[in-house]
This record gives sequence, C-alpha cells and structure tokens, in this order.
Amino acid sequence: MTTGRPHPLDAWTIGDLSRTSGLTHRVLRHWEKVGVITAERGSTGHRRYLPLQATRLYRALALRRAGLGLTQVAALLDEQDPDPVATLRSHVATIDADLRRRSQVRDRLVAVLQDLDHPREEPPDDHDDDPAPADRTLMRVIETMMMFEQYVHGYDGAEHARLQDQADTLVDLVHHGASYEAGARVVEVGCGVGAQTLTLLERNPGIDLTAVDLSDTSLAAARSRVRAAGHHGVRFVQADLMEAPTHTGDLRPGTFDHVFVCFVLEHLVDPATALRHLRCLLRPGGTITVVEGDHGSAYFHPDSRAAREAVDCQVQLQRLAGGDALVGRRLYPLLDAAGFRRVEITPRQVYVDGSRPQLAEGFTTRTFIAMIEGVRQQAVAAGLLTPERFDEGLRDLRRTTEADGVFCYTFFAATATVAHTHPGETTPHERRGRAG
Ligand SMILES: C[S@@+](CC[C@H](N)C(=O)[O-])C[C@H]1O[C@@H](n2cnc3c(N)ncnc32)[C@H](O)[C@@H]1O
Repeated sequence: MTTGRPHPLDAWTIGDLSRTSGLTHRVLRHWEKVGVITAERGSTGHRRYLPLQATRLYRALALRRAGLGLTQVAALLDEQDPDPVATLRSHVATIDADLRRRSQVRDRLVAVLQDLDHPREEPPDDHDDDPAPADRTLMRVIETMMMFEQYVHGYDGAEHARLQDQADTLVDLVHHGASYEAGARVVEVGCGVGAQTLTLLERNPGIDLTAVDLSDTSLAAARSRVRAAGHHGVRFVQADLMEAPTHTGDLRPGTFDHVFVCFVLEHLVDPATALRHLRCLLRPGGTITVVEGDHGSAYFHPDSRAAREAVDCQVQLQRLAGGDALVGRRLYPLLDAAGFRRVEITPRQVYVDGSRPQLAEGFTTRTFIAMIEGVRQQAVAAGLLTPERFDEGLRDLRRTTEADGVFCYTFFAATATVAHTHPGETTPHERRGRAG
C-alpha cells in the first residue's frame, strides 16, 4: 500500500502538493500568480516543488489561518514587508472590528428572533399566497441584514465616492459658519471616510481635531485620506455615539470646544440620546453644528410620480433601518429637547437649473440620484416598487438634469451652545415642561 506521499528528496508535483496541503490545483496556481509560492518548471514544463517551496507553502498556510491576506502573506514570507509588526497590529485591529461587527449582527438576529417569539396580533389571514412562517422568518432576517449593511456599516466603494462627491459639491453650504479658532478642541462625530474632515482642517488651520466613527473601515479610509493631504495631528477614534461619554479615553465629558456632525443623525434610531451625549462632550459655552438633509424637501421639474416614489423608497428603507431621512426638519426640537441653548436653524437650499451644469453633475446626478440608485436592490427586494417602476423613477430624476430641468433640495444647518452663562437661563423645551 502506498501513502501517496512523495519521497522527501524528490521534487513534488502539483498533485502531490495538493494532496498533502489540501489546496486544489486551482488555488495553488492562483497562489503562484500572486507570489505566495512559485514552482520550478521541469523539462516537460510541468510544475515541480522542492522541499524549500513545500516548507514555504506550510508557512503560508499558517499565516492564512491567522487571517492575513495573500498579498500580506507573500510580502511577509519574502521579507519585503517594511514593518511586519505594523502589519500584524493592523491585522489585529481588523479582527477586532470583525468581532464587533459579528456581535452587532448577532444582536440584530436575536432581536428578530425575539420579535418572532412574541408576534403581534395579526388580523385573520385571507391571503392564500402569503409565505409560510419559515419563509417569512427568512425574509425578515434577509431584510434586517440588508438594512443593517446598507445604513450602518458596510459602505462600499460607490458609497465612499458618493460621500466624497457630496462633500466636494456642498463645501460652502455645509461648512458656512463652522469656523473655529486655532487651538480649539473640535470633535467631528460620524466622520465616515473623512470627506468633511479634510474641509474642517483646511478651513480651520490649527484646530485640535478628533474624528470619531463607529466603523473601523471608514475610519481607516479617513485616516489615509487625511494623512495623504499632509495633516498629521488628527486623532481617529472608534466609538459609538449612542454610548454615554466616560471619564477615560479620548472622549471625556466637557473636553471639547466644538462638536461638528454632518449627515449622521439621519441614521440613528435615537438621535435625541445621541445629542445629549454630544452635549456632554462640550465644555460650558461650547458649540455644536449639525447639518442634515431632508428628502421630503426634494422637488423638481419635470415633476414625476415615479421619481417621487423612488425617492420615497429611500425614505421608507431608512425608516425600516431605524433612521429618518426627513430628520432635517426635526433639528430644532431635537436640539432644544437635548438641552442646548440658542438653537438656530438655517435652511440651505440647493437650486439647480440648466445654467448650472456643474451642480447638476455634482449634486443632482452624483450625490442625490446616486444615493437613490444605491437603494434600488433593497427597494425591489423589500417589494416597495417593481424594478421597472424604480427604473422609470431614476430615468425621470435624470431627466431633471437636462437643460430645461430644475432640481431643488433643502439641507438644514443648526448651531447651538451649551451655555449656562446666565444662571437660570432655560430652553424653550424646559419652559414648556414647567408650564405644562
Ligand atoms: C452618511 S455617513 C456621513 C459621513 C460624513 N459625516 C460625511 O458627511 O461624509 C454617516 C456616518 O455616521 C457613522 N455612524 C452611524 N452611526 C453611528 C454611531 N452610532 N456612532 C458613531 N458613528 C456612527 C457611520 O459609520 C457613517 O460613517
């Protein structure tokens, strides 16, 4: 009986190596292509592996089991990685982020299951074609996870690009009035991929900036972008603004002069609690600037019911995910209820017509329509619109960017302070509470 193992002094064939390593021929050829292991070629042109290469393969397998990418494995084995310790540290950070993400996914699934264990009273069912309970459960899980991916974490490349286009086009509209003195301690919360972070740094030289986000992936993108632009003093902090500030770490109560928040409250289940936490970060007299959109403010010419329905899909999906795409109109009551003083709201309208082709491209097409396009799959999967109707809506939205089209959208910018400079000063919210 033969074990099928080649004699150690012989060169191994790809079949030998495949049998002993458990990797298929295809994988071995791919690993060769990306430089993890390179075979010798015999006189017949077939791959041959010497003991040295087999050893390298086993080392590569060990590093793969630690979760490192093939390029990282190749660089480490070739001793080409200039800083292996930094690579491993960054890998540990990726594992940490993955663990956090998995724990959040687990919480979501537990919540869905709890919901299913205690179903709401439904009226008698007279629809023969309703899915069976098991299919309904599966649909709930699929819907929940799709919303979760879309809105909370997994921003993909297209979403990164959209956020950057949005930031580039709306610089003045978003940052007007957000001017901070050199040395001021500023925290940008929900910095995402750093689209606003760079503008904050460029328009406010000398500020001491801390950029915070829930997503490690977005923070990593923000960090590279900011460093590539030559700014090195920014602190990047992973944190959840739904958690109250504590007296340890970078986000201690009362330590900031200014808070800047842009396009974040719309994603939160409980923006009121988030604002109370942000108030807590500020010193007395500190200010907050909040900028949010409101999709109910979008109107256009030529008007189109299909286009409005497609926009409404975004609003409904965001609501299902626990957010509010109409949060702009709620900024005053939210900030007031969170205990901020001197709350001032300025509606900031984007108006696009045929004389502003750059704005039509940068805002209508690459910011607004790109966002609506981004929810097509979820909207169709959730049964909100048929694919044909959604595409008709998209076509009509694009039609508004032609020379005779018009597109309007209103953002809302709020500024407020944490000021107890006048003892006894109360917010309108508190006064209403006392009167009631
Ligand atoms: C639409 S992006 C906006 C990013 C950036 N402010 C901009 O204007 O481009 C929303 C960001 O809020 C972050 N976010 C959502 N919920 C959060 C939470 N609970 N704590 C911290 N950040 C959160 C997301 O990870 C995402 O990066």
